[in-house]
Amino acid sequence: MPASQPAIDRDPDLRIRPARPDDAGAILQLETLFPGDRMSARSVRRFLTVPSAHVWVAEQAGVVVGNLIWLSRRGSRVARIYSLVVAPAARGFGLAERLIRAAETEAAALQLIVISLEVRVDNVAARRLYDKLDYAESAQLPGFYEDGGDGLKLTKALPSMVLAG
Ligand SMILES: CC(C)(COP(=O)(O)OP(=O)(O)OC[C@H]1O[C@@H](n2cnc3c(N)ncnc32)[C@H](O)[C@@H]1OP(=O)(O)O)[C@@H](O)C(=O)NCCC(=O)NCCS
Repeated sequence: MPASQPAIDRDPDLRIRPARPDDAGAILQLETLFPGDRMSARSVRRFLTVPSAHVWVAEQAGVVVGNLIWLSRRGSRVARIYSLVVAPAARGFGLAERLIRAAETEAAALQLIVISLEVRVDNVAARRLYDKLDYAESAQLPGFYEDGGDGLKLTKALPSMVLAG
């Protein structure tokens, strides 16, 4: 970690929490950093209200510096990570890893058994991240992105959770 940056991962002001409706502006701002496909304000607001969308944010001293959206589908036991972005100044401190672990824990608690996502073949940072967290390639997605870029589908089995009571 660069010595000049604060230790975000040990910062007591850092929280990984479910998003609230008033996070919409901050999430939209983060999503403009996403390489390639952009999300509209309307989509963000919708994700924050529909039960099939599960939105997590990383908040640092009251500022949203990362977000993850995962989707569930009625009748399916597969969770899909739809979007993950961390603000450039907050990268490299483990926030993406913590957001993914929050999503995995929530999905497993909802009795989902697999979590999947798509990633650009040339997105080195994201591919290393998912590799570290044991996501495996399950399909190649040629021309998957709007600009014609190739993608990969990655999946991971979720641990089954035994419900108490
Ligand atoms: C990809 C992204 C979410 C990573 O966020 P982050 O908070 O910096 O990631 P973390 O600090 O949790 O990193 C966890 C692991 O990911 C990998 N990783 C993260 N950034 C990396 C980079 N720039 N280069 C190589 N590996 C990287 C490493 O394995 C790292 O573990 P390590 O620190 O023990 O080596 C962030 O760079 C981002 O928002 N990029 C733009 C949006 C995007 O590409 N989203 C993913 C779309 S599928």
